[in-house]
Amino acid sequence: MGMHKDCERVLLTEEQIRTRVKEVASQVDRDYRGKNPLVVGILKGSIIFYADFIRCLSMPVELDFMAVSSYGSGSVSSGKLRIKKDLDRDVKGRDVIVVEDIIDSGFTLANLKLLLTERGAASVRIATLLNKADRREYDVAPDYNCFDIENEFVIGYGLDYNEQYRHLPYIGVLKRSVYEK
Ligand code: IMP
Ligand code: MG
Repeated sequence: MGMHKDCERVLLTEEQIRTRVKEVASQVDRDYRGKNPLVVGILKGSIIFYADFIRCLSMPVELDFMAVSSYGSGSVSSGKLRIKKDLDRDVKGRDVIVVEDIIDSGFTLANLKLLLTERGAASVRIATLLNKADRREYDVAPDYNCFDIENEFVIGYGLDYNEQYRHLPYIGVLKRSVYEK
């Protein structure tokens, strides 16, 4: 299968992703040995990463999901996350691992971490596939990060533009012409 026509170039190949996700997940596997973490996937962008990630864990894990969105920028009341789908499980006393596709401004994860802590989680750590460190506006850092990337809009392996391209098995840079027209 060739590269999608809307891709400028492939940033990370299937092979590179597979190798790195295994490395990072093995680290998590060692760190959580003897524990029973609640692994929270943030819908929908994290789903492919999530599926590969949890299959590298050997401790008993419980799966749960949340869907969130931020209010549009420019709104006065920033700092509030809108929960579109909440967790099924109670996080009180649990070791929570939040699995996310990408940290950009940090708004989503800074607020989510606060929320889960307020709900009484014993610990909250973040595992992200991608990190755009230069874009950070909110004080949050990943505990586990697969790749640092530049400030470019990327798609594939779960990440979308306008709900498209999530199924691509690699991560590519989206052509500017797609979102500038
Ligand atoms: P943050 O709250 O600003 O950190 O934004 C995180 C969210 O922005 C991610 O969960 C993605 O949905 C979205 N996002 C940021 N950068 C990209 C990108 O390059 N491609 C696709 N989605 C992105
Ligand atoms: Mg997202």
